[in-house]
Amino acid sequence: MPVELRGARVEFGGGLFGGPRKAALVGVDLALPAEEPRIIAVVGESGSGKTTLTRLLLGLLRPTAGSALWRGRELSSLGGEDWRAYRREVQAVFQDPFGSFNPVYRVDRMLVLPALTFGLARDEQEARALATTAPAAVGLRPADTLGRFPHQLSGGQRQRLMVARAVMLRPRVLVADEPVSMVDASLRAAILESLWQLTREAGLSLVYITHDLATAYAIADEILVMRHGEVVERGDAVAVIRRPSHPYTRELIAALPPPDPTVDWGLEKAEE
Ligand SMILES: Nc1ncnc2c1ncn2[C@@H]1O[C@H](COP(=O)(O)OP(=O)(O)O)[C@@H](O)[C@H]1O
Ligand SMILES: [Mg+2]
Repeated sequence: MPVELRGARVEFGGGLFGGPRKAALVGVDLALPAEEPRIIAVVGESGSGKTTLTRLLLGLLRPTAGSALWRGRELSSLGGEDWRAYRREVQAVFQDPFGSFNPVYRVDRMLVLPALTFGLARDEQEARALATTAPAAVGLRPADTLGRFPHQLSGGQRQRLMVARAVMLRPRVLVADEPVSMVDASLRAAILESLWQLTREAGLSLVYITHDLATAYAIADEILVMRHGEVVERGDAVAVIRRPSHPYTRELIAALPPPDPTVDWGLEKAEE
């Protein structure tokens, strides 16, 4: 298992000035098989604990109880080289790509630096070569993006570059927390499609975190439904939509807009 959560619980607050303790995650299990890449969607409304789950998977937060593991070892116990290997193997795509860019550096630096840090390139020249090929993977032209500053790009371009950067590092797992919620509706399907295609081509697992059950169904093999920090339903994507077992999942399905015939997802969804 590249990454795994076992009975993970996260509480915030408490202490002298922290106010009452509040559980943001309760007993969450999540495992990505090492053998075959999977796309797992985590669906839940705002405040259900999705970003807390993301931060656990990325080692940015420690569980209050339970475990967050990488290759069977507690993330909090990893040091030095292991931590670096894990940081490369598990890559993030965040909701707000602007927040992930350093505004004073040109875009190419965002690609060149990690290529060096994670040892994908031996020197600056090799790193530049990698950085130059990365944008094409997400349908961007290097000439239109690399020499620019983040504010000179559109939100859609920035989000695509985040995906390009993550994939360039040859991870095993991508964790994408609401990757298209800040992007114009007209671009969402295209960006999700390129995310889906890249993960498939590169044989990565994807944890796609979203409040949107429709896109979860469109791209995922497996769906987890979260409510108040708890996974209330999980299973094969088709089964969850066709035969939801939890009343909350049924509510979410009932609230789905009718399929938009003008959007061609270009994704095959296996029928049972
Ligand atoms: N750093 C924090 N300190 C205190 N409470 C937090 C913190 N981060 C998240 N929470 C709380 O935990 C719950 C889950 O938040 P979050 O994981 O961000 O949900 P989502 O991403 O699904 O909107 C919310 O009630 C939120 O207010
Ligand atoms: Mg969130």
